[in-house]
Amino acid sequence: MNGKKLNRWELQKMKDSNEKAVWITAYDYWNASFAQKAGMDMILVGDSLGMCVYGYEGTIPVTMDQCIYHCEAVRRGAKNTFIIGDMPFLSYQVSIEGAVLNAGRFHKEAGVDAIKLEGGKRVCPQIRAICDGGMLVMGHIGLTPQSSGQLGGFKAQGRTADAAYELIEDAKAIQEEGAFALLVEAVPPEVCNIIRKTLTIPVYSIGAGIDADGQLMISSDVAGVFQAFTPKFVKKYANLADQTIEAFSAYKQDVKKGKFPALEHTYKMVDGELEKLITKLK
Ligand code: KIV
Repeated sequence: MNGKKLNRWELQKMKDSNEKAVWITAYDYWNASFAQKAGMDMILVGDSLGMCVYGYEGTIPVTMDQCIYHCEAVRRGAKNTFIIGDMPFLSYQVSIEGAVLNAGRFHKEAGVDAIKLEGGKRVCPQIRAICDGGMLVMGHIGLTPQSSGQLGGFKAQGRTADAAYELIEDAKAIQEEGAFALLVEAVPPEVCNIIRKTLTIPVYSIGAGIDADGQLMISSDVAGVFQAFTPKFVKKYANLADQTIEAFSAYKQDVKKGKFPALEHTYKMVDGELEKLITKLK
């Protein structure tokens, strides 16, 4: 999709006709423009920017202002792509009013098309209120990084019958409250498939197998930029970290050896002006 921005009904139609949606995270202008050029159906400005851009160990320190700045840059880079702003920790958990106001900031200040928030039944009042405010909400269940402390770390979820049942109940509640789509993270494929078949709204996977209505990946993982750790569900399609280090090292070597800048990297003086300057300096 390079031309026209998709809307929720077109995303719904894709699910209904078994066409997979493909989306990726982006945090800046350049990667957003690359994502749009590659034809991504959606872009998530994830709070994973905490790790991928700021070098935090998790998503907890990420603020609303940081998310807004990055959404603004992504919007400038991908004007024709459906953009989802990710609500950071404490931007929706504290109060329903706060959740609506912060969801509204994403729309008013950064021009996103939808917001995403983490959690099941316990965030349903917020989902309902944001939808009642006229905004589109995507749910996010399974491994929800903002509550990784409660989950005992960044671990796969829904691996027992009881845990899977709870996820399915959460998914139903999220749809019931008006969410237009749901993201399922780090859950066995069988469980994601049951959720996809149970819900009428699109159900997307990150680390939840192939039987979903589409796939999300983190751009820094796909491009091979993020080096701190690699989750099991990641496939790297490039190794930009090594290529970038090689490029920086080659530049350093060229400067040290007097090979850069060469003449072709410099500007010429206007004809005759150098002689005039030398005369003037005498
Ligand atoms: O912040 C993010 O990129 C996310 C994904 C991990 C799903 O929420």
